[in-house]
Amino acid sequence: MSLSRDPGPIGIFDSGYGGLSVFDEIRRLMPWYDYLYLGDNARAPYGPRSFEVVYQFTRQAVRFLFEQGCPLVILACNTASAKALRTIQQHDLPKWDASRRVLGVIRPTVELMDSISATKHVGVLGTVGTISSHSYELEIEKMFPHIHVVGEACPMWVPLVECNEYRSPGADYFVKRHLEHILSVDPLIDTLILGCTHYPLLLDKIRAYTPAEITLVPQGKYVAESLKDYLRRHPEMDRRLLKQGARAYLTTESVDKFTDSAAVFLNERVEARQVKLD
Ligand code: DGL
Repeated sequence: MSLSRDPGPIGIFDSGYGGLSVFDEIRRLMPWYDYLYLGDNARAPYGPRSFEVVYQFTRQAVRFLFEQGCPLVILACNTASAKALRTIQQHDLPKWDASRRVLGVIRPTVELMDSISATKHVGVLGTVGTISSHSYELEIEKMFPHIHVVGEACPMWVPLVECNEYRSPGADYFVKRHLEHILSVDPLIDTLILGCTHYPLLLDKIRAYTPAEITLVPQGKYVAESLKDYLRRHPEMDRRLLKQGARAYLTTESVDKFTDSAAVFLNERVEARQVKLD
């Protein structure tokens, strides 16, 4: 692999549009960096896919962003963070370029749980891939063994967002169903992690079917703060990042489709370029 030289932009990757909810918070908090967003929209959703396939797709995406010159890539996708991050960090990075970094969204979310939850009962809403990986349970167990965690897979929530149906009455049915189920499994839950970067678009509906005393935790803000802290602690990485405030968007799907849907997440129209991952 030929990697272009530093300095370069921060790479942000998601299977589709969901990562834009994280990117939106990152660019608000740190507008001075250059960013390169890549959505693998042509192959989304990743949620129902096997470990092997999510790993292969994510590996291709990270390698592509490295080839575009990103010294640092954020997996703004829980499914990719759950199924591919560790293998990429341990297996691929040392072979490609051990000085580059790939960070995920699960750890920054987990770190907050002890301070947010009073009952120490936390629920995680996510894709089938994220929930079946048990990544949240394992990470929380390592950091806060006294916290009890229950996961709920919500397979219809990403398609509702990707198909722009997240405001429709049909969405209410699926939102209500999963919230009622997880809260019946553990009525002591006082904190619900929106463990999928698509879910902030469903936030109004999720709030409507969640008792007021339960805290909802969308991740974008926390991931952004954690990245800022990471770059403060790692000046050697910060020096390798371009700081001209440029943003560029890449998609594996058609550019028109990306532009329309991205506007929903970013409240602005952006130009994208189509790329092929392999
Ligand atoms: N946005 C991704 C996540 O955070 C999942 C979307 C998908 O299923 O592709 O898990």
